[in-house]
Amino acid sequence: MDRHLIYLTGFMGSGKSTIAPILANTLGYSHVDIDIEIERATGKTVKEIFSELGEKYFRDVERAVLKDISGRAGCVVSLGGGTITNETNLGIVKSTGILVYLKVRPEQIFNRLRHKTDRPMLRSASEPHVGDDELRQRIHALLHQREPFYEKADLTIWTDDRRVGVTVDEIVHALQHF
Ligand code: S3P
Repeated sequence: MDRHLIYLTGFMGSGKSTIAPILANTLGYSHVDIDIEIERATGKTVKEIFSELGEKYFRDVERAVLKDISGRAGCVVSLGGGTITNETNLGIVKSTGILVYLKVRPEQIFNRLRHKTDRPMLRSASEPHVGDDELRQRIHALLHQREPFYEKADLTIWTDDRRVGVTVDEIVHALQHF
């Protein structure tokens, strides 16, 4: 199958959802955000899915939505931070598109997510107050577990301390030389 999509992966807070629509606009592609499609399919927010139905349910819907998206063409797809962290989903992505990893230092992730309460993988609905040290540890542990999958990407782009426009330019440039 030809690779007709551009997928953005990376940890929560790496900028996937911000960068994807701008990149799509620049390339003349359309844009799909997997979390938004999951919310549309279930009629619930990601946070509600995790708290009411659990992570396994979320992952099942995520896989089904990914399969659907992978059949489209001419799209930039912003994945969730956990979407490609299993071989099945990674296989779907790698066979249908170019996978771009937005890489960011853990401390930057911490700063970006510190006050966010909509990331159930780091802070469940029943624990609104997670201390800074605990949050840092959770980010490190999850990143360590996921990095081997992210590193399977075709292109890696650092997003630390960069303006969005600069990152988009870098991705476009890297894609042209891919
Ligand atoms: C998740 C990341 C989230 C969302 C869900 C699970 C993860 O997406 O899919 O909360 O497992 O890392 P973002 O990476 O866009 O925050």
